[in-house]
Amino acid sequence: MARAESVLRADGLEKRFGALVVLDAVDFTVGCREAVGIVGPNGAGKTTLLNVLSGRNTPERGQILFAGEDVTGLDVAARCRLGIARSHQIPRPFGGMTVFENLLVAAEAGAGLRGPAATRRALETLALCGMLPRANRRAETLGLLDRKRLELARALATEPVLLLLDEIGAGLTDAEAQILVEIIAAIRAQGIAIVWIEHIVHVLVKVVGRLVCMDAGRVIADGAPDAVLRDAAVIDAYLGQAAHAASHG
Ligand SMILES: Nc1ncnc2c1ncn2[C@@H]1O[C@H](COP(=O)(O)OP(=O)(O)O)[C@@H](O)[C@H]1O
Ligand SMILES: [Mg+2]
Repeated sequence: MARAESVLRADGLEKRFGALVVLDAVDFTVGCREAVGIVGPNGAGKTTLLNVLSGRNTPERGQILFAGEDVTGLDVAARCRLGIARSHQIPRPFGGMTVFENLLVAAEAGAGLRGPAATRRALETLALCGMLPRANRRAETLGLLDRKRLELARALATEPVLLLLDEIGAGLTDAEAQILVEIIAAIRAQGIAIVWIEHIVHVLVKVVGRLVCMDAGRVIADGAPDAVLRDAAVIDAYLGQAAHAASHG
């Protein structure tokens, strides 16, 4: 059954900020080991959806099942221990700590590892993210690509089953974005499910097998990337806008 094959299943999510309905009856499912991309115009509710899935925001309505368990009432830390990790649009490393120390904290607090197991997890994660040469650098001295790689590594060090990425590629050059794509593809190859919000669609589709488009708090398309990118409602709400901006930029 579809339910057994999904790692995450959210039904009828509604989130309001005052009178503003930011998520409006959103249904969203992620299969085991699946990578899903989320696109949509600014203000569509993409980040809020990740906040609701990760436990940062509480929905007014709806239910979230993770690995078959109802996590709707659990906070960020509890969901992280179950295996939901996320990266932020603006990286949030612990300043005053080295890259390695940042990962050790993530492995201890997020995965519950101690001693050599935590050290091993931190080192493995650094290696996968290409950050071993920066292990002893203070987090606040890193350039943008390295801050993004650290943000990814901190989420990964918590041993997630599901990784939620919010515009991790934003602000990077094409060559830098390609480095991130390779890391995220390697994470996916380990069997970790991924939900990735990104505006750089050609980068996104190198990793994800499914695209969801949101507009004004609703899911307006969900399916194979080719089909979603050809969808008239998606072109109208999102891609047309981007093409318009490009032709006038
Ligand atoms: N904490 C908040 N308080 C009030 N309004 C918010 C808050 N967070 C987001 N919003 C509003 O919700 C809408 C969706 O925001 P967001 O989820 O960040 O969209 P996206 O990530 O798709 O750009 C926007 O109109 C935004 O201004
Ligand atoms: Mg956002």
